Amino acid sequence: MAGQRKLRMGMVGGGPGAFIGPVHRIAAELDGKIELVAGAFSQSAERSRLAGELYKIDPDRAYADFKSMLVAERRRPDPIDFVAIVTPNHLHLPVALASLAAGFPVMSDKPATATYEESVELENAVAKSGLPYGLTHTYAGYALVREARAMCANGQLGKIRKIAVEYLQGWLTNPIEASGQKQAAWRSDPAQSGLGGCIGDIGVHAFHLTEYVTGLKVVGLNASLLSVVKERKLDDDCTALLRMDNDAQGVLMSSQIAAGEGNGLRLRVYGEKGSLDWRQEDPNRLRVKWLDGPEEIRHAAGGYLSEDARAVTRLPGGHPEGYLEAFAVLYREFADVLIEWQQSRKSKIPPTLPGIEAGVRGMRFIDRAIESSKLESWVEF
Ligand SMILES: NC(=O)c1ccc[n+]([C@@H]2O[C@H](COP(=O)([O-])OP(=O)(O)OC[C@H]3O[C@@H](n4cnc5c(N)ncnc54)[C@H](O)[C@@H]3O)[C@@H](O)[C@H]2O)c1
Repeated sequence: MAGQRKLRMGMVGGGPGAFIGPVHRIAAELDGKIELVAGAFSQSAERSRLAGELYKIDPDRAYADFKSMLVAERRRPDPIDFVAIVTPNHLHLPVALASLAAGFPVMSDKPATATYEESVELENAVAKSGLPYGLTHTYAGYALVREARAMCANGQLGKIRKIAVEYLQGWLTNPIEASGQKQAAWRSDPAQSGLGGCIGDIGVHAFHLTEYVTGLKVVGLNASLLSVVKERKLDDDCTALLRMDNDAQGVLMSSQIAAGEGNGLRLRVYGEKGSLDWRQEDPNRLRVKWLDGPEEIRHAAGGYLSEDARAVTRLPGGHPEGYLEAFAVLYREFADVLIEWQQSRKSKIPPTLPGIEAGVRGMRFIDRAIESSKLESWVEF
């Protein structure tokens, strides 16, 4: 990208003490293609100003709210090139709609919106605007997830017959929202989290990873959602059976009351010839087992990996890459989409980068899982 200036990012959310906003900032800037220059970082004008100081941006560009940011940035000779959305879920739709209406592309964190209906509204708005929209399903950025995806796509495992995906955390084992823990408080409030609790927070990542890696689509599911912590207003534990469009069966477990677990995301895919096993807490190894052959461990940065996996590896083998780098892969791909869009006015999201279609499917999954759990029966996707 010789001669290409850095793309300017405006962030909504990510104020002092926030979890994912600072991760987006680091990841977006990692490859030198993007810089954070503006933001409405908090619902409090004072905290937004303070965040601007911490991020070391021009104080004039730390705005009191996102609407002021969009208006002021449109008037600048050097406006932001896109908006990153890192607020609680209920704000994803209004911020995305306002950004698109103001002519700014959007990179949003998941889930795309708070309800399925909202995601359809957003899909229409993205289509109408013709602007790029990316969705940070982080795990899609890991090299060995790309390797697993390539293996499924080129038939190395044979026909896929069984999928086991789990995303287990333990941090909501106790009702910590009652004592004001910020991240727990909005996640267990339906007005801010949306219809799903655990299913919308992490179940949707497991769902996305399943479809992303296997290339298969969920066509039916039978889910059981529980609030194991009785006073909690939203689900904190989910088990779902999945039926895929090639008739394979899957099982998806997501839980935030799995005491002792940290970020236990794991995907196993079983085909007729062999299987693969990837764990987010050991992300630089992919275990591959063959029906008639010795077990393999593929390492990130291995010269033998698929082109897709090698394209997103930054370091030589043995130097661990992880969460921040995976996030940065998605930002790098989004930056390339933006540069292309600025030159041609054509928004082409590559198949490796989750976009609005993945966002709508994720919201559909949450919606159907809740419905299935209420009905205590299978539902069509
Ligand atoms: N991709 C991932 O791996 C991943 C991981 C964690 C969180 N997330 C998603 O990121 C989002 C944020 O989660 P979090 O854990 O960082 O939450 P958080 O509570 O730590 O941060 C949310 C931030 O949004 C700010 N905010 C709230 N209302 C606002 C408004 N009106 N205008 C501007 N800012 C406002 C808050 O002040 C806070 O700084 C959620 O949608 C969540 O699902 C994604």
